[in-house]
Amino acid sequence: MTLSDPHLWWYISRASALLAWALLTLSVVWGILLSTRLLRRVDNPSWLQDIHRFVSGLGIIMVLLHMVTLMLDGWLHLSFAQVLLPWGSSYRPLPVALGVIAFYLLIAVQGSSMIMHRLPRKFWKAVHYASYATVVLVSFHAGLAGTDVGSPGYRILAYTLIGLTAAATVVRIAVSNRARAATKAEVWVPPRDRSPRVSPPEIDARRMIVTSTGFVAENVLHLRLAPLDRRDLPVWYPGAHITLNLPSGLERQYSLCGDPGDRGHYDIAVLLTENSAGGSLLIHESVVQGSKLTVSSPLNHFELEPARDYLFIAGGIGITPIKAMIESLPAARSWRLIYVGRSRRTMAFAKELEKRYPARVLIHASDEHHARLAFDQLKVSDTTEVYCCGPESLLASVSEAVPVGRLHVERFVPVTREAGIPNHEFRVRFSRNKRELTVGAEENMLDVLEAGGMPVLGSCRKGVCGTCEVRVLDGTPEHLDSVLSDQEKDQLGVMYPCVSRARSAELVLDL
Ligand code: FES
Repeated sequence: MTLSDPHLWWYISRASALLAWALLTLSVVWGILLSTRLLRRVDNPSWLQDIHRFVSGLGIIMVLLHMVTLMLDGWLHLSFAQVLLPWGSSYRPLPVALGVIAFYLLIAVQGSSMIMHRLPRKFWKAVHYASYATVVLVSFHAGLAGTDVGSPGYRILAYTLIGLTAAATVVRIAVSNRARAATKAEVWVPPRDRSPRVSPPEIDARRMIVTSTGFVAENVLHLRLAPLDRRDLPVWYPGAHITLNLPSGLERQYSLCGDPGDRGHYDIAVLLTENSAGGSLLIHESVVQGSKLTVSSPLNHFELEPARDYLFIAGGIGITPIKAMIESLPAARSWRLIYVGRSRRTMAFAKELEKRYPARVLIHASDEHHARLAFDQLKVSDTTEVYCCGPESLLASVSEAVPVGRLHVERFVPVTREAGIPNHEFRVRFSRNKRELTVGAEENMLDVLEAGGMPVLGSCRKGVCGTCEVRVLDGTPEHLDSVLSDQEKDQLGVMYPCVSRARSAELVLDL
């Protein structure tokens, strides 16, 4: 084939049409696997969604190439209007019209996806379903309007694409049924983000804008934040929190409660606390749509471990990380949620969760019951991992009922911990620059590191948020924080110097 070949545009037109059909089918199949969450068991959903967007974008480019080359083809000689108007072409008017309609549906699906965060989710979903119709219309268009339909290569491609679409549809129906039955499932290995962790100096702070606000319960304000530079947000996993740097200079941590696959936004819910030291009060009183805030990259000290079954227990605003966990699980995963609070009025997302997962969610509002929930009678099977987030009283009750090692907690406030030994002076050496500092018996280790110019960041300074995490290469820390269990910290070889100290005379840190 040469540039002077009279069939050149025909070749390009047919090739781009077949490629477009293949890419659109692949995009729909990929979308089905994503929506059924089958793909989410293998890796993080963010890049899987990026692939979905990339494949459908490429499909549209091929469609446009197909349309342009149809106009250039010397045999068909279609005009602009004939290509863009259904029944505008005298050549096989019905099949061509199906292709033109499919093109407009495709534009609607792609356009709505580009502004999906500005559209009501139900509306976006409804438009997105048009992609199924698009693939069907494209199949008929290709089968009835193509000039090489009978060729063996064409047949193989057509059977493959139609077979793929049918298989994905069957999978979708099967998974939906399976989820409804809520049967027990095989062990799922969730994405891991433990090691290496983000070291504090690498924590990225970005300017973000509040794109929407709204109350999701009494005194619970939902904020949606988007990056001002419009770049994708870092990948995060359920259980992660971000730090808001408030205009007053205060820093506050909030668990992410949105979809981990959404790289364009962070969703948080802020409870107005009764004795607010200024953080939640300031947010409730002064943060509005359009406010700009500096926000840290997500940190995660409350990750999902691989398990056959999950029991989630949330108290009050502790539902926020749990909600992200629930929504990240494959549809067939076995889980239950016990959600306790003072009243349904004050329980964020209670109605939504109960409606979506009626067989799995137990709401216990104190004003509806005379008795407290008896956690001492909680039955936890050997295959269940328990994730609990809420006030200290709830964590204490649950920890009495659940064997150590199977309970994972996240705290809002630090537990009061006494040092096992009297405070003493100790040396801290740094592996990367051979310097050393001395922490006096009355001094705070994080203060000493900061004053010595070491690259370590503090935020809560109470041993709760995990921002100040450093790696310990040698020596024995005296853990006094409430971020992770001491066993986990020792396994990971980390400590939190805002409250912790050393048992040994010297610590060597990876700084
Ligand atoms: S600064 Fe929050 S744990 Fe140390």
